[in-house]
Amino acid sequence: MATKPARPTSRRLAPKLPFARFLIGLPICMIAIFNYGDKISYFFRPLWDKPPRPFNALPHFYAENVSMEHLCKLHGWSIRSQPRRVFDAIIFSNELDLLEVRWGELNPYVTKFVILESNTTFTGKPKPLFFSSNRARYAFAEGKIVHGVHPGRIVPPGSNKDPFVLESDQRVAMNQLLYDAGISNDDLLIMADTDEIPSPHTVQLMQWCDGMPPVLHLQLKNYVYSFEFRDDYSCSATFHIYGPETRYRHSRQTDFILSDAGWHCSFCFRHLEDFVFKMTAYSHADRVKYSEFLNHSRIQKIICKGDNLFDMLPEEYTFQDLIKKLGSIPRSTSAVHLPAYLIENADKFRFLLPGGCLRERLI
Ligand SMILES: *[C@@H]1O[C@H](CO)[C@@H](O)[C@H](O)[C@H]1NC(C)=O
Ligand SMILES: *[C@@H]1O[C@H](CO)[C@@H](O)[C@H](O)[C@H]1NC(C)=O
Ligand SMILES: *[C@@H]1O[C@H](CO)[C@@H](O)[C@H](O)[C@H]1NC(C)=O
Repeated sequence: MATKPARPTSRRLAPKLPFARFLIGLPICMIAIFNYGDKISYFFRPLWDKPPRPFNALPHFYAENVSMEHLCKLHGWSIRSQPRRVFDAIIFSNELDLLEVRWGELNPYVTKFVILESNTTFTGKPKPLFFSSNRARYAFAEGKIVHGVHPGRIVPPGSNKDPFVLESDQRVAMNQLLYDAGISNDDLLIMADTDEIPSPHTVQLMQWCDGMPPVLHLQLKNYVYSFEFRDDYSCSATFHIYGPETRYRHSRQTDFILSDAGWHCSFCFRHLEDFVFKMTAYSHADRVKYSEFLNHSRIQKIICKGDNLFDMLPEEYTFQDLIKKLGSIPRSTSAVHLPAYLIENADKFRFLLPGGCLRERLI
């Protein structure tokens, strides 16, 4: 007798839903929402009334030691004689540990690490230049770093400035920084947040093949708090074959998405103080409805249970955020197929691995 699975699979659930036909062609990152079942989907009805345009998910082939020529061919692409240069462009806030994992992981493939930080938060408050004051930690990548500081705008408390406007200012500044970094046509550009890390073999595929779509979303395995809490997929990071029309953005840019292309670890911080900073600084700071949300012992408890930091009502979610924010995530005991840099430096990054949910206090 088969045991009952903990959660229904999308295959079993889909036929019950009147909008099942929308599932055809949807990537896993959308299908996964159905895994939570009818109870939750009730709250999501407004979303299903107007479903986002479906992605066209490209199959992604990879195994160790298979030649690049064969891999390119499997995707329907051809192999180049020279690899593309790679520019990794991120807007940085305070993700110091994940920045080390990202750069450590991608260093062998990347030409320039382009990093922009602002002296204000997306919510318009003054902010320390966390990268500048910790730069020595990244000496291993020093020759490749192109760092820019964006003079942010201060927003007086109580004013209703939209955090997404401040965020878009920074994306404009990034275009200039990329130009300064010497990017040129046909280079590979990674547009992602610090915590959205493409896997090295995916970067190599894009470096070595010709014939793929010039803009590709990356379907990344989503994690929250650490790689112990696996939470579906995210879709917002992109690869671009750089051209005259390329502009730095972090929204839906094409219908193409490459399956299983890396990792996204949100709120993957070492210190409880970092959580508080991120919760009040990022684009969704309006979710901090009560000051007790910032209570350290509350945050610690939530991290170890895989619960939601914002105790959100689902109807306030945007489609993308909804994926990240659904309650209690089951613990995973797998640390297989994670960034190699993380495993090689496991002692330094215990808090990102299974069994490491207890966080440090700065003081
Ligand atoms: C991959 O190739 C390297 C050298 O060509 C070899 O040492 C290694 O054992 C191979 N690994 C696998 C999994 O086949
Ligand atoms: C941010 O930097 C700009 C340019 O250096 C400066 O004029 C501004 O006062 C700074 N803002 C804060 C909040 O430090
Ligand atoms: C934080 O929450 C705990 C219990 O959850 C409570 O005992 C403690 O007093 C709270 N701390 C502050 C500063 O509110």
